[in-house]
Amino acid sequence: MENMCKNYVIAIDGEAGTGKSTLAKNIAKKYKIVYMDTGAMYRCVTLNMIWDNVSLDEIDKINNILDNIKIDMENIDGEDKFYLNGVDVTKQIREKQVNDLVSQVSHIPVVREKMVNLQRKLARGKNIVMEGRDIGTNVFPGAQVKIYLTASAEERAKRRYEQNKEKGIDISYEEILKNVIFRDENDKSSSVAPLKKADDAFELDTTNYTLEEVENIVVGKIREKVDLDA
Ligand code: DC
Repeated sequence: MENMCKNYVIAIDGEAGTGKSTLAKNIAKKYKIVYMDTGAMYRCVTLNMIWDNVSLDEIDKINNILDNIKIDMENIDGEDKFYLNGVDVTKQIREKQVNDLVSQVSHIPVVREKMVNLQRKLARGKNIVMEGRDIGTNVFPGAQVKIYLTASAEERAKRRYEQNKEKGIDISYEEILKNVIFRDENDKSSSVAPLKKADDAFELDTTNYTLEEVENIVVGKIREKVDLDA
């Protein structure tokens, strides 16, 4: 085992709706390590742009938002809360107007640069499970563990629909499927940080696995690299 004493990063990347969040959260909770949802950070930037009526090509205004943005995360009774400039936006960042825009916002180079720097800073000195798209390829290319999750678009849309329903967010399955396919295309074809598996990541197609099965497989992989019980 490489990492008995040093801090470690577990990078969990993959397409939208593959169960990354639930997996990362469960692992963090069970093994008492810090969890970071990097997608939520891009969602916060997107919401800030919507609040300030800033469009995708207004780079000066985007820079101004990035200079002043404050993103805080907190776990209350097992639920992750996000605060944007002091306002609880946990629900708002999952709503349609943010969903429709977030992929494009996440491809603006200055936005990525700021978020990646922030992610590296927040992870310093911690054992952390960080969930996103480019964690294993770009944010922490030296991460001790890299997991890359996939699943069919239909299965992913179904999962997100059910997740939303539980949270009281009302978006139709068809709408979500359209959004999943659109975001996949946008995320994979982008010239800025395209979504792709790191060469040394462990890839798992989760379409036919339950969350519990995925967790068991992934925890087994993690245990090959770091001591989760230390
Ligand atoms: O995981 P999510 O659906 O909450 O992510 C929202 C968007 O942010 C999605 O379009 C991908 C993008 N994202 C990214 O570009 N890099 C990350 N590390 C995390 C998310």
